[in-house]
Amino acid sequence: MAKLAPVTTETLRRMKTDGEKIAVVTSYDASFTCLLEDAGVEVLLVGDSLGMVVQGHESTLPVTVDDMIYHSRCVARAAKRALRVVDMPFMSCASVAQSLDNAARLLREGRAQMVKLEGGELMYDSVAALTQHGIPVCGHLGLTPQSVHQLGGYRVQGREEQAATRLLDEAIGLEQAGASMLVLECVPSALAKQVSERLGIPVIGIGAGVDCDGQVLVLYDLLGITPGKRPKFSQNFLDGARDIPAALEAYVAAVKAKQFPAAEHTLA
Ligand code: KIV
Repeated sequence: MAKLAPVTTETLRRMKTDGEKIAVVTSYDASFTCLLEDAGVEVLLVGDSLGMVVQGHESTLPVTVDDMIYHSRCVARAAKRALRVVDMPFMSCASVAQSLDNAARLLREGRAQMVKLEGGELMYDSVAALTQHGIPVCGHLGLTPQSVHQLGGYRVQGREEQAATRLLDEAIGLEQAGASMLVLECVPSALAKQVSERLGIPVIGIGAGVDCDGQVLVLYDLLGITPGKRPKFSQNFLDGARDIPAALEAYVAAVKAKQFPAAEHTLA
């Protein structure tokens, strides 16, 4: 079989232009990274969700830069093709200088290829500084789990007109600051569609409807093994699949065919 070229930011932009949906899944270790690559996932997100699904914390807040580096290295050892995006954990971007230092560690020690940070306007200067220093950045708007206490829980964002306008403005602002990709979490599908159409960079949705340029799920949600209640926007792809590789392939196929997320996973 011909070896596929590594996925780059350029590949993802081309996919957006061509209307090919981008399949993203979180990964935290080497074994799952191999399976996710075999299934055809284009982007591996070493998400700080690992604080909840791997470390057993109640939120992502306790996750440290060292934790992210450890898991990012595990993923990097196994990854051959997919782009590796690594989360900047809680308070690791509190100033531009901190953003640069911590992102440099994620690239140097964790072999990240892109960093993801949560927040809008407050992050413009960090995004600009990082990209000017050659570090690709993915923004994250909507439900930003690191702000769970300020948001008052894990709930849909951007429902009111003012909040929706602000989210669109901040998405544009992040792109103008230099972001190469944007994650939109738990926002109404009409707003996510508007943002995806307005931006030139790929917009990856989670609980944001089918009209984003790609989809991301937390691996453990996708396999139905996250303890407790399943988020409404996720689907257990292991249900009905013969094994884990088949479940991962089913997810990628459903994203590409625009069958996931379906109406039942979509938040109004
Ligand atoms: O940490 C994570 O897994 C994430 C996704 C939910 C987008 O940020």
